[in-house]
Amino acid sequence: MKIKLSFNSGKAHPGQTCDIQIGSGITKHLGKWVANSPSKRAFIIADAKLKSARTKVRSALLSAGWEVHEIPVKAGENLKDIESVYPLYGDLLKAKADRNSVLFALGGGSVGDAAGFVASTYLRGIDWVGIPTTLLAQVDSSVGGKTAINHSTGKNLIGTFHQPKLVICDTDFLSTLSAREVVSGLGETVKYGITFDPKFFTYLVKHHAQFLALDPKVLTQAIHKSLSWKARKVAHDEFDRKGVREVLNFGHTFGHALESFTKYENFQHGEALIWGMRFALALSVVRGKLKAQECAHIELFLRSLKTPPLPKALNAEKLTRLMSKDKKSRSGKIHFVLLEKLGKTTSDGDVSPKDIKQALSMLRNSTEANTGAKR
Ligand SMILES: NC(=O)c1ccc[n+]([C@@H]2O[C@H](COP(=O)([O-])OP(=O)(O)OC[C@H]3O[C@@H](n4cnc5c(N)ncnc54)[C@H](O)[C@@H]3O)[C@@H](O)[C@H]2O)c1
Ligand SMILES: [Zn+2]
Repeated sequence: MKIKLSFNSGKAHPGQTCDIQIGSGITKHLGKWVANSPSKRAFIIADAKLKSARTKVRSALLSAGWEVHEIPVKAGENLKDIESVYPLYGDLLKAKADRNSVLFALGGGSVGDAAGFVASTYLRGIDWVGIPTTLLAQVDSSVGGKTAINHSTGKNLIGTFHQPKLVICDTDFLSTLSAREVVSGLGETVKYGITFDPKFFTYLVKHHAQFLALDPKVLTQAIHKSLSWKARKVAHDEFDRKGVREVLNFGHTFGHALESFTKYENFQHGEALIWGMRFALALSVVRGKLKAQECAHIELFLRSLKTPPLPKALNAEKLTRLMSKDKKSRSGKIHFVLLEKLGKTTSDGDVSPKDIKQALSMLRNSTEANTGAKR
């Protein structure tokens, strides 16, 4: 399956495109898809752990006549420290990568973010190709052109917009993910159904067991739908200045607060997002935007996805403080993306601390009522 992402409206890169290929075992076609590159010199920044994926990417390029240099890295948030990124420039310089060389990012979101950042800055920018290997990266971070590294004071504070020329989502690479990582990816996937596409939401409810069992057909369909929605938003707001991409943050204000409260140790990103979407639904009801019955219908599915429990110590005051720090808050006010009905969102900048308290207790009550245990 293929998606073509064009940036005709973008001022800096008019006419630029990014092809997105999705399917099972498609890496073998890589050579064909990069045939129009400015040179046949590949520099692969690869998650060292992914031996089989690395072999597949290397052989696909070698058999298409490419010269291949591999730079294995240790994936994870530490890769996005400037100290980890700096030596990558040295590796490229030593191997004489030039402006026509193509950088390949093989791994999850950390590798995509770091390698994309290197591609956008090395010799003032070279072409790059994303080969995401986590579900989270396949349904979200690989598309959109945001590259970033971290500062000691916060995540993703140093970065660029640099669109990859090609993104390949090979579902075969997902077979080694842990069950938690798959649930986490489903969380990010269902976000697109809730915010944009009721039919897709229903599809995921119906096929979630196959999704969790990594059925390639269901995965391909789900990744294609997710990225089609993301690509549509990105195409209209390449540099994230018009607010078009804001909807993609549904559930994230609470999700980020939860990740930060637990020091990024308890929750996978998508697990925190599942809680975040449940909170956003409760808040939508509290704010009179969403009918309680529609909330219950969506909540029923989200609640069925297994996540670590909400920490008891997270009270409304701490939550409000953490959410105010989120970079989406403007001039002290937190702007929430809320839901009016399946597929229709609205932005709300008038949420009070009392609303937050009420939504949090609604979330806790619904969880307790349905598990019989206090979480
Ligand atoms: N650029 C964007 O638009 C954007 C959007 C969302 C998130 N992000 C970033 O993405 C990062 C998180 O993404 P992630 O969870 O994919 O990160 P990651 O690269 O750290 O991967 C998570 C873990 O999974 C392992 N892994 C990767 N592929 C695997 C596979 N196929 N099988 C088994 N294990 C595998 C990695 O080695 C790592 O231990 C964060 O840094 C976040 O800031 C970026
Ligand atoms: Zn996310």
